[in-house]
Amino acid sequence: MKGRVLITGATSGIGAATARRLAQEGYDLILTGRRADRLADLTTELRSNYKQISIDYAPLDVRDEAQVKSVYENLERNHKMPDILINNAGLAAGLATVDEALTEDWNRMIDTNVKGALYMCKFLIPYLKRQNRGHIVQMSSVVSREVYAGGSVYSATKHALDAIHRSLRLELLPWNIRLTSINPGLVETEFSLVRFHGDAQRAQSVYSDIKPLQAEDVADAVAYCLGLPAHVNIPELHITAACQASATRVRKEDGSLRG
Ligand SMILES: NC(=O)c1ccc[n+]([C@@H]2O[C@H](COP(=O)([O-])OP(=O)(O)OC[C@H]3O[C@@H](n4cnc5c(N)ncnc54)[C@H](OP(=O)(O)O)[C@@H]3O)[C@@H](O)[C@H]2O)c1
Repeated sequence: MKGRVLITGATSGIGAATARRLAQEGYDLILTGRRADRLADLTTELRSNYKQISIDYAPLDVRDEAQVKSVYENLERNHKMPDILINNAGLAAGLATVDEALTEDWNRMIDTNVKGALYMCKFLIPYLKRQNRGHIVQMSSVVSREVYAGGSVYSATKHALDAIHRSLRLELLPWNIRLTSINPGLVETEFSLVRFHGDAQRAQSVYSDIKPLQAEDVADAVAYCLGLPAHVNIPELHITAACQASATRVRKEDGSLRG
């Protein structure tokens, strides 16, 4: 067995693409996310394509500490604890300035991207320590190191995730646990649809005149980091489309620049 991977946010975008990529690589999978119907569909698809691996799913809202604990307890009871965590669930909500933003949007981002990611680590790490084996991948962002107007809280959550990732590298050094932060630029997923509260036209305009990363490009990067020999770790992997130079500055397909 190559390892058992738990993916948060496997119902869409990077998480779903990572599930497909890792199934192809022969990893056992535990798929999580809030939309149970999508988890069930993806599980059915992967089970029919990859009969040699074990695929389970568990509906999970990472903001709910009790639910996170209970998912891990069930997995432990069934001898299905993951040795690899892809901490991918996350979102940006809104693109408003601090004075105009909805505090509800801030709470969703902070509760999901920071506290949810922490819960996922906290209740897995004791098991990884006992096994003296594991790999935690944080799905961060280029904005873990950058800021932009209207992105204060989203950037703050990814800066926080970066701080958590780097602290964990120090805390877990005595154990044989690898830690990787993947920092993508623009990826064409449901991310902008969520950010703009379901406004599909506005979401599409983010990607329509550029050639952004696809979720599969990031999934390839995840597979690369996991597949390296056990003595090798990629602490940080930055990945952007060739047309992107900063969080907001991109080259459009007509050659003009945006941002
Ligand atoms: N797309 C980009 O440009 C980009 C760039 C850099 C970094 N990222 C990061 O990449 C990660 C994946 O985003 P994506 O681009 O693939 O966006 P996406 O298509 O919107 O996927 C986000 C995933 O997160 C899950 N999620 C959101 N809130 C959750 C919660 N409370 N509990 C559990 N799962 C939750 C969603 O599942 P449910 O709704 O079913 O729960 C969904 O599967 C995020 O952390 C994002 O910040 C994205």
